[in-house]
Amino acid sequence: MQAIVYTRNGDPDVLELTDRPVPEPGPGEVLVRVARSGVNPTDWKSRQSRPPEAGWQIPNQDGSGRIEAVGTGVDSVLVGERVWIWEAAWQRPWGTAAEYTVVPVRRTVLLQAGASYDVGAALGVPFLTAHRCLTVGETMPDRLDPGALTGREVLVQGGAGAVGNAAIQLARWADATVLATVSSPEKAQLAAAAGADHVINYREQDVVSEVRRIVPNGVDAIVEVAPFTNARIDAEVIGLHGAVAAYADGDGPDVTLPVRKLMILNVRWQFVLLYTEPAAAKAAAVEDVNAAVADGAVRVGDEAGLPLHLYPLDGTAQAHAAVQGGAVGKVLVAVADL
Ligand SMILES: NC(=O)c1ccc[n+]([C@@H]2O[C@H](COP(=O)([O-])OP(=O)(O)OC[C@H]3O[C@@H](n4cnc5c(N)ncnc54)[C@H](OP(=O)(O)O)[C@@H]3O)[C@@H](O)[C@H]2O)c1
Repeated sequence: MQAIVYTRNGDPDVLELTDRPVPEPGPGEVLVRVARSGVNPTDWKSRQSRPPEAGWQIPNQDGSGRIEAVGTGVDSVLVGERVWIWEAAWQRPWGTAAEYTVVPVRRTVLLQAGASYDVGAALGVPFLTAHRCLTVGETMPDRLDPGALTGREVLVQGGAGAVGNAAIQLARWADATVLATVSSPEKAQLAAAAGADHVINYREQDVVSEVRRIVPNGVDAIVEVAPFTNARIDAEVIGLHGAVAAYADGDGPDVTLPVRKLMILNVRWQFVLLYTEPAAAKAAAVEDVNAAVADGAVRVGDEAGLPLHLYPLDGTAQAHAAVQGGAVGKVLVAVADL
């Protein structure tokens, strides 16, 4: 089989197309014929700085494909099933940028009939992160489903990002009122297409007064991509018992918070990292995201505010460079059309 492998950290050119034997699934694992490999910022960050523990690494956590074989302890009824894959490469060398990969069966989820492999490969990192951000608040439910967020207001900072898009789609599915910030009119269209009720251009409008105009008492939850930059804004627009969920640190390492203002409102600041979140929360997220897919509530492409960028397997380096360069939308490696 063909697989993209790196044996040392560095720029995208460390990613090499190699020929390898098709792997055997071990106990508790399945062999997946990969259709799509999803690329997220975590994948290029790992490639750049996380030394491959096995001496080699196939990149990319997310993916979709078809189960071809099962290891011991896994029901063979799964052979032939379409699945989406999450955390394929977490503490394992078997990422999804290959024609076949082996994955612990619990990190595969049956892909609902009617959902494309493109949708499947777009789910893992962005949607599971978004689910965590929408459910960590004290006044937010642990689980999402239609009606779960009725009467709640959610602010998604960076509504045209991959996680931002996922947060908008999931929050709308759960019937929240969704406000989103963006930096341009083009990104405003994407956030609106994803389902945001109100879109604020943070370069041209005053976010605090806009949010307060729409939600005078402040929002229940903030999904925050830029905590260093936005901490003061968040403190001005969060409501009583609200929660700010910060899932990125790209804009700066430290955050300064107005303690009294947040203390008076009993506000929670919650930091989110997908890999280390509590197992029960992760399991709930996987189930709820799959339910949203089954409801037809998760979409990809321009009409969902998530333009697709497809690269061939031997273009995985370009796919990584695109994500690293801030591509708007979802970058996928089209490994096979199954
Ligand atoms: N903690 C976790 O488990 C976890 C999970 C997934 C992703 N992440 C991290 O989260 C970050 C985003 O990931 P992604 O895949 O969503 O990337 P992405 O698709 O590139 O989206 C990032 C978005 O943030 C927006 N943004 C930047 N500065 C902003 C600001 N001050 N206010 C509002 N929006 C702002 C960007 O748009 P503009 O610059 O045009 O505003 C862009 O739309 C990455 O650093 C990634 O590593 C962490």
